[in-house]
Parts: sequence; structure tokens; C-alpha cells
Amino acid sequence: MSDKIRKHKKIIVTSALPYANGPIHLGHIAGAYLPADIFVRYHRLMGNDIVYICGSDEHGVPITLRAEVEGITPQEVVDKYHEMNKKSFYRFGISFDNFSRTSLPIHYETSQDFFLDIYKKGILKTKTETHFFCSNCNRFLADRFVEGKCPNCGSVGARGDQCENCGTWLDPAKLIEPHCKICGSVPVAKETMHWYIPLSNFQKQLEDWILPKKGWKDNVVNFCKGWFEQGLEDRAVTRDLYWGIPVPLEGSEGKVLYVWFDAPIGYISSTKEWAQNQGNPELWKEYWCNPETKLYHFIGKDNIVFHAIFFPVILMAYGGYNLPENVIANEFLTLESRKISTSQDYAVWLNDYLNMFPPDSLRYCLASISPETKDADFSWHDFQSRNNNELADILGNFINRTLVFIDKYFEAKIPEPHNLSQQDIEIIREVENQLDVLANNIETFQIKAGVNTLMDIARKANKYFNDSEPWVTLKHDRVKCASTLYICSQIIKTLALGMSPYLPFTMEKVIHFLDIKEEFETKNWEEIKNTPLLPGKTINKPDILFYKIEDEVIQNEVDKLESIVNKTDDSDKRAQSLKEVNKLEEITIEDFRKLDLRIAEVKSISRVPKTDKLYRLEVDDGDDIRSIITGLADYYEPEELNGKSIVLLANLKPAKIRGEFSNGMLLAAEKDGKLALLTTDNFMEPGSKIT
Ligand code: 2FM
Ligand code: ZN
Repeated sequence: MSDKIRKHKKIIVTSALPYANGPIHLGHIAGAYLPADIFVRYHRLMGNDIVYICGSDEHGVPITLRAEVEGITPQEVVDKYHEMNKKSFYRFGISFDNFSRTSLPIHYETSQDFFLDIYKKGILKTKTETHFFCSNCNRFLADRFVEGKCPNCGSVGARGDQCENCGTWLDPAKLIEPHCKICGSVPVAKETMHWYIPLSNFQKQLEDWILPKKGWKDNVVNFCKGWFEQGLEDRAVTRDLYWGIPVPLEGSEGKVLYVWFDAPIGYISSTKEWAQNQGNPELWKEYWCNPETKLYHFIGKDNIVFHAIFFPVILMAYGGYNLPENVIANEFLTLESRKISTSQDYAVWLNDYLNMFPPDSLRYCLASISPETKDADFSWHDFQSRNNNELADILGNFINRTLVFIDKYFEAKIPEPHNLSQQDIEIIREVENQLDVLANNIETFQIKAGVNTLMDIARKANKYFNDSEPWVTLKHDRVKCASTLYICSQIIKTLALGMSPYLPFTMEKVIHFLDIKEEFETKNWEEIKNTPLLPGKTINKPDILFYKIEDEVIQNEVDKLESIVNKTDDSDKRAQSLKEVNKLEEITIEDFRKLDLRIAEVKSISRVPKTDKLYRLEVDDGDDIRSIITGLADYYEPEELNGKSIVLLANLKPAKIRGEFSNGMLLAAEKDGKLALLTTDNFMEPGSKIT
């Protein structure tokens, strides 16, 4: 921002540091980033002294798990996703002043200093407890490294910290049939010592701070009240993990700071990095320790406890820091009425979106449905309709036709107004009022209401243009026509100002059309608002602002999501039937001998017409060639199957599948959406019996 603008309030805004363990999706954007960016851009225009801080959260179990899954090191994981996410944010116009990362030395120093300070003050307690230890992997199984059956709902695959099925927060010690997530071994209980922060010692101080707060959202206050009612407990601030910031004490080898201890401190270290880049390393203190500065955290609702309780306690314990002025927690976004699932790839990834569509169309859509007080749903058809019917038909159309008219009939100069009518004066007044309403909307975090306020202006302006019929007055009352276009151009300027935080890319174009870039760089909101475009001012040639999105393009996106849902449903069904199999009663060897299991060789493969998943295989079973219909098309290409030696259940009663007879069944192993055919570890002739 230009230094020429007079600075008023000092503000620091943070958005939750995203884990660098995967790409950013629309749910993240709607919760912690877009609302914050709109708030920040607005305050910059107001001329406030605001710094917007974020960075990658590069520690914790999610990173190490991703490394295990991808077969790379945690460092490689964070390097990859840090760069990827930083780029996506930039392309989407999220205007961080600094996007740091928690693997930087400055962050290590800051976090270790916090730990040592509160340790030396005697605030931390140590406790020795038994935790799961995997002897095979030779490590403690922190949080999500251990899985088992949920003690609450019985579902398998519950993580050490939480059951995804019923949502219960779990104590890993209570998991039924626990096993190591990495190698599957049964862990043993082993003693380990950790440092704990006794949150209960700070409960009174927290209550006195939070409960009288005005302007905090209900979800945050109610959540905190719930915690207070239960009574705050000790919380471990260290973990036995090989990836993280080492505990800076002698004799604590192999122990690191808990990720939720270091991550929020990342806001401070990112500000320090920003200050260094400004050439004024001490400047960060102005934003964290000057009591005049207001701190705002924008987060998703799953992070409330850490920002309203855990981090404030760390700041209180250390002392000298401001506590947040507000914690703005948004609810969740669903996608086509389903929960977004990163593990099942059921998401719209920001990168993919940006490769297909302009950033402002999504900014507009997400702001319009912002999950402020309840969960909201993103659907592709709604997105299309907002882009086509609102952005293109109302906003874009109004701006475009006004400017094209001025360009064509008024030599590209703002026309001179004469004898303004009651209607002209009325609309100017209304638009000014609406701009004040918008300012209030944004200042009170009502991003959705703000976008409605703006579209209201655009709708009224469009109607004013239509009602004034400048294409008619042009011919017989050019003075009136000039007044209409004068008014419309002033409204465009107001829209450019109000819409800039929401649609920065589009409004930059509009500011260029009106040739007022310098004014935006040197004046603040109030000054711009009170400076009308002068008659006679030349404008630049306008261009289309929004293109309509075709039905086929949208259908393609819908289909992509549906195919993921179908795949997931199929694998859920398979998992269900496997669960049932797991529950089957004992059988005798005689029962087993009833099965004619033998080796067969695949001779040819063809697709079953009009199906996605089915192949017809001709297999040699040692005696004969027989046809089998099998749902392998999602897992194997035909060339991978050709000539393959497989295990066949040969005496299964023939069944008709999609009009074709299947004479037997192939054996395969499957879990979590993966499937592999059974085969032998040495070549065996077709017809060889499985015994
Ligand atoms: O939930 C998450 O994605 C965390 N990485 C958020 C961290 S916010 C902050 F405290 F750094
Ligand atoms: Zn293990």
C-alpha cells in the first residue's frame, strides 16, 4: 500500500496456518482466508495500518503421516506443499503481507523461547504417563499414529485422537485392538515423561477476558463456555516424535514441542520475518505488544479451542503480548451437500479451480454463501448461476454498457451533468448510504451481508440505467442523457471502491477503465468516496468483465465429483461386506474343501458394453476356457491383466451380471479403496489346486 495514505488504526490479522501436508481446497478458503482477505483489503483502503500474516504449519503428525504415505521425507512434504499453497493463495488474490513457514530458524527460536520462558517461570508441570509404543517402528505412537476400534461406536479405523465416524475425542489408551498406523503391529504401553500446561490455573483469567466480550460470534463464545463448564485440564505441550521443534532442555532427546504449541507462535515469527524484510526487525513488536494494536484471528470452527483458549494462555503465561480483539471462526463448507473429504479426494482443490475459472467468480460465490453462522453448501450450479446471472448480467452489464456508451457517444469523456432530477439525486444518496452500510458489514465480519449490499447497488444502478433510457434521450435530450451517464459513472466509481476487497482483479480493471489508479494509491476510502469523477475526464477503452460459463463446463465438474462419490460408495459397500465377512462363524476343513479354488490364466479381456467398471475375462482354468464378469476396470488396465495367473473360485454357481453369465469368481484383497488380485509367488500351471 502506498505510504502517502494517512494511517489510522493499527491492526494485525492472521489466518490459520494451513498444514503443509496437502493442497488447499474451497472449504479452507471459505473459512479462514477469503473473509480475512476481504477484511484486510477493506482496512487498507480505509487507510489503516494493517498487517496480514500467515504461513505454512509444517509440524505435527499430519505431515509425518503424509510423508509415510508418499514415501518421502517430512521435509520433502512441506517443501512441496508450502510452495504449492503459497502460489495458489497468490493466484486467488489472498493478499498476505507475509506467508512464512514454521520450519524457519526464526520460528524455532521464537517457539523455544516461549517454552523456556514459561518453563523457567515454573508454570509447566511434568507428568509421566504410559503411551503406546511400537516396538517394530521403535517409536511412540503420538495422536494419529495409532488406530483401532472406537470404544464409543465400534467403528474400525478410529484414530488415536478422534473417531471420524462418531466424532468423539479419544484417549488412545481406550482404543479397542489398537495397532500402529504405519506397520500394523500391536503397540505396547511404555512410560514417557512430558510437560503440561495447567490450563485450569488460567481459567479465571480467561473467563474474565472472554465472557464480557461484545461482538464475538456466538459459536466461539458458546464453545468457550462449554469448556469452562467442564473445567479446563492440563494439556501436554510436548510429544514423542521425530519431526518438530526439539524441546530445548537437556535430557529431552526425541521430544518435540506439540504442534499446537508452536503453530500459533508461527503468527509471531511470521511477523518477525515480515519486519526483517521491511528493514526494521523490531517493527513486529508494534503489532503484538503495543496495546493500541488490535489482533484478529480468522479460523475454521475446528480451531476455536486453540485460538480462544490454548494460545491466549500461552500469551498470558509469557506476558507482554496483546490478546486477540476477536476470534472469527467460520462454520464449515459442504460440497454438493456432502462433507468435503481430503482423504477420499472429495473436494474442489483451489489450484484445479484456478486452472479453469477466474478467481473473482469464486471469491464472489464464496462470499455470497459465506458459512458465517451455519454450515454452507457450495454447488457448481449455484456457482454458475451467480457468475452468469449476477456478475455477468447485473454487475458486468451495468459497468460495461455505461462505459461503452460514454466511449461511443461522449468521446470517452465523463459527461457534464445538468439539472439533476429527483431520481438522479435519490440514487446518488442511496448509493452513498449503501457504501456506509457495507463498511459496517465488513467491520462486523458480515462478509455475506456486505456482498448483498453491493449487489443491491448494482441492481439499483442497472434499473436506473434502464428507466432513464439513455439510448432514447441520446436522440432528443442529450443533456438529460449526459446527466444519466454522469450519475452511472459515479456509481461505477463507488462500486469499484466497495467491490475492491471482494473482487480485486475485476475492480483493478474497472479502476483502469476510469483511469483513477493514482487516486486509489494516494487517497483513503473516505477521500475516494467524496471525490466525484470530474466531467471531461477521459476514460480508457472498456472491456468485458465477466464471461458466462457454459452448462457443459459445469456438468463436467459435477460429473467429476459424482464419480468420486460412486467410487467411495462402492468401497464403503465393500468395506461393509468385508466387515460382515469378518464376523462370520468358524468353519471346518470340510467346509473349506467344498471350495474349488485353483489357478487360472487370463487369456483375453473385453469391456462389458454400457458399464464403467466391468470386464469380461476369458480364463484358462486348466480344463477349459470360461468367462468371468468382474468389476476390475477401476483397478487394472486390460494389458495389466492379460496373461496374468490368478486364483479362481471355480465351483461358484454361475450368475448373470448385466445380462452376461459369469462362471466363477477371482480372488482379490481389498481395503480402503485399494484392490489387488491374488496370485502365487511362483509360477503354477492353470488348474493347480489351492489347498
Ligand atoms: O487446522 C489446521 O490446519 C492447523 N494447521 C491450523 C493451525 S492455526 C495456527 F495456530 F497456526
Ligand atoms: Zn509400527
